[in-house]
Amino acid sequence: MTGYGSGKKVSSIVLGCMRIAQMEHDQLGQLIHRCLETGINAFDHADIYRGGQSEANFGKILEEQPALRNQMFIQSKCGICRGMYDFSKNHILESVDGSLKRLHTDYLDLLILHRPDLLMEPEEVAEAFDILKKTGKVRSFGVSNMNMMQIELLQNYINDKLAVNQLQLSLAHTLMLDEGFNVNMPDVPGQMHTGGILDYCRLKGIGIQSWSPLQYGFIEGTFLGSEKYPELNARLDALAEKYNATSGAIAIAWILRIPGVVQAVIGTTKPDRITELSKAMNIKLTKKEWYELYLSAGNRIP
Ligand SMILES: NC(=O)c1ccc[n+]([C@@H]2O[C@H](COP(=O)([O-])OP(=O)(O)OC[C@H]3O[C@@H](n4cnc5c(N)ncnc54)[C@H](OP(=O)(O)O)[C@@H]3O)[C@@H](O)[C@H]2O)c1
Repeated sequence: MTGYGSGKKVSSIVLGCMRIAQMEHDQLGQLIHRCLETGINAFDHADIYRGGQSEANFGKILEEQPALRNQMFIQSKCGICRGMYDFSKNHILESVDGSLKRLHTDYLDLLILHRPDLLMEPEEVAEAFDILKKTGKVRSFGVSNMNMMQIELLQNYINDKLAVNQLQLSLAHTLMLDEGFNVNMPDVPGQMHTGGILDYCRLKGIGIQSWSPLQYGFIEGTFLGSEKYPELNARLDALAEKYNATSGAIAIAWILRIPGVVQAVIGTTKPDRITELSKAMNIKLTKKEWYELYLSAGNRIP
């Protein structure tokens, strides 16, 4: 697909860089090259990942190999500070300058507001975005972990159309789907945890990026091979055999099968897992397979 306002093609799998700070320089170089070789050209950062160290380590690779930049779609996030969230104009502008410096690039393809700052003044966010756009520092904008009204409020002031909403979504974290299947049902799956964010984003053409697509809980561990999810793993393994792929690739293909969900942000630090997971971009599960996986994760439909 075309990468939002950037004019670049961008892959439906994004490499999340939250866990790369502990990697050796050469290992990180191999990971990045494996992504590009397997058709993954999008990279997700945040100013706070290991206090900026993740961006800095990635930036060292770009400093050494600047020709890689043109092949990449780089997004970063701002707005989370110690013990608070901050969408003030100064914070946004300073944060982007910091990310650009650490990443050794003069622009971000996409800037994402990381978590809602309920004390924000949307006029200030709009001013900051206008400056970033005019100076060429940021090409497109998005949000993360936001509900419908928070997006509406921001969009009312921002000149650019918000391009993405990055949300937690995996086979073991399906709140935005559960509420859709259980409208008007009295029990827990029917609770509107997200206020219909899936349909809202689809209606508005805001692409959903799924974060932690292979994790359960709040990034507690992967459900792949976990004793907590025997039925799910059995189903994933069977489909992996059918599609000549790994169970991880099937779990990512399951996410990408959901209309409106445009990208999965994976966080592996292993090049061989990148190769395996990249196959998900060419797997289209049938509707029946999709539902079977949803149910085998412990969900039900009324
Ligand atoms: N917007 C937000 O609020 C937010 C919050 C959290 C994360 N994120 C973004 O989402 C990205 C992905 O998050 P995540 O790292 O939790 O994603 P993930 O892809 O769900 O999990 C990756 C983790 O699972 C491990 N893993 C174990 N078995 C695996 C297998 N068979 N295949 C693949 N991975 C396996 C990986 O270890 P190995 O490295 O050993 O493979 C790695 O530690 C982050 O990097 C960040 O960019 C955004």
